[in-house]
Order: sequence, then structure tokens, then C-alpha cells
Amino acid sequence: MKTILKVLRRKDPDQKAWWQEMIFETEDENASVATALTAICADPSFQDAKGQPVGEIVWDCSCLQKKCGACAMVINGRPRLACDTPLREFKGGPVTLEPLRKFPVVADLAVDRSILYENLKTMKVWYEEAVRAEGPMLDLAYASSRCLQCGCCLEVCPNFYAGGTFAGTAALGPTVRLLASLPEGQKKEVRKAYRDHIYEGCGKSLACRNICPAGIDVDELLVNANAMAVWKRLFGPKGRS
Ligand code: SF4
Ligand code: SF4
Ligand code: FES
Repeated sequence: MKTILKVLRRKDPDQKAWWQEMIFETEDENASVATALTAICADPSFQDAKGQPVGEIVWDCSCLQKKCGACAMVINGRPRLACDTPLREFKGGPVTLEPLRKFPVVADLAVDRSILYENLKTMKVWYEEAVRAEGPMLDLAYASSRCLQCGCCLEVCPNFYAGGTFAGTAALGPTVRLLASLPEGQKKEVRKAYRDHIYEGCGKSLACRNICPAGIDVDELLVNANAMAVWKRLFGPKGRS
């Protein structure tokens, strides 16, 4: 299987970005974008379509199993995980690879997503002690805990920008998890954080729907979070009262 890859390259954030085209060939029918990047980086003699050396393409990865979110990038215009994007889908390409656009670029396809964690710190959405979700909230707490902090949802969100007060859907999972599991008397600050940093800034366009590589149902989390933090009603895991 041959695939034409077009990678947006830059050695550092100050360098003007440029496209480098290369042909990746493999006999592995299950090869992913991450497989291609790993193989290209491991081969110092790998050349681009013009016969120039490719060298190391800077990108982030860790688990290679769709579990950590590190390999999120823009693949053919859509934010996706490189390790969860099979090359066969593109039938030879070309396939464009770009860094996520809502975060500062470190180099090539790697970005600095520390704003995600800064936002969670600002919102103070963390557990102070071990808490167990119970009853109808258990499924909701589990669903919200699946967030990888990959940032794919922020790529398509018209209202999110790094440094703004709106934390976007990436902060939704951790917030709903607390709303679903903390004892009632400890939810006041989390409710306020949700209203100030998610509810107020969200335009409810749902452009972030069906983007999440972890399969998080954004509608379900938003409906439940609005119910718990804004309307103060108790909804169930599927948004039922
Ligand atoms: S509903 Fe729209 S504004 Fe709200 S988080 Fe999703 S994409 Fe962003
Ligand atoms: S909600 Fe989904 S797309 Fe957004 S950061 Fe979490 S895992 Fe990524
Ligand atoms: S490397 Fe962990 S999700 Fe792709």
C-alpha cells in the first residue's frame, strides 16, 4: 500500500511553515498515520518526493492505542488521533498532516497544549479526596472520565481560543465528572466554574459533536451539566429527569 503524505513542516515556531510531500509504502494493511510517522522518523535515509532527506518529523505520541490523546493532529482537515487513523481510508492519498491550530506550535506536528491543564487549574476541577459516584450518576461519571485532553474538540469550536476564559469541551468531561460524583454540599464552586468557563462562553452550535476520538457524547454531557449547574435539576445518565 502506497500513500502520499503532505506534512506541514517547521523546525521552530518562528520559521515559516512549508509543505513536504513524501510517499510512504507498507505491506501492513492496518498501518495508521502514526505507523507512517514512526517508520519515517526511524529511517534516516528516508527521502521526500523530490529526493530530499526528510529527517525527524516532530510529533507527539505515547500509547499508540487511542488512550492518551498525545497524537492529535489535523488529518485531511479534520482533527483526529494519528494512531487511530488508518492509511487505507485515504486510498493512496494525498493525506495532509498539520498541527492542531488552537495551540502554539512547538515544531512540525507537535503543539503545546498546556493551556488545557491551566484551564482545569483555573476552574479548580479536581478531586480533593477519593469519591465514588453512585446510583444514576455512575454512568455519567464514567462517560465524562473518558476525556483524553487531546484538544480535537477545541479545533472545531468557534468560541475557543487559548488564553480566553472559555475552556471549551475539553474541560467539560472533568467538570461533569465532579458534578456527577461530589456530595451535594461540595458542588457550589464546580457549578460556578462550569457557568463561568463553559456555559457562558458556549454558543451551543454543537460543532464539537461527533469529533471526539474517545466517543464522548457532548450533547449528553452538556445537557446534564446545564441541568446540574445552571437549572439545578437532577438529570440521569441519558439526560432524563
Ligand atoms: S457547542 Fe459550539 S461553542 Fe460550545 S463547545 Fe461545542 S463547538 Fe464550542
Ligand atoms: S472531549 Fe474528546 S475531543 Fe475533547 S479533549 Fe476530551 S477526548 Fe479530546
Ligand atoms: S499515541 Fe496515545 S492516543 Fe495516539
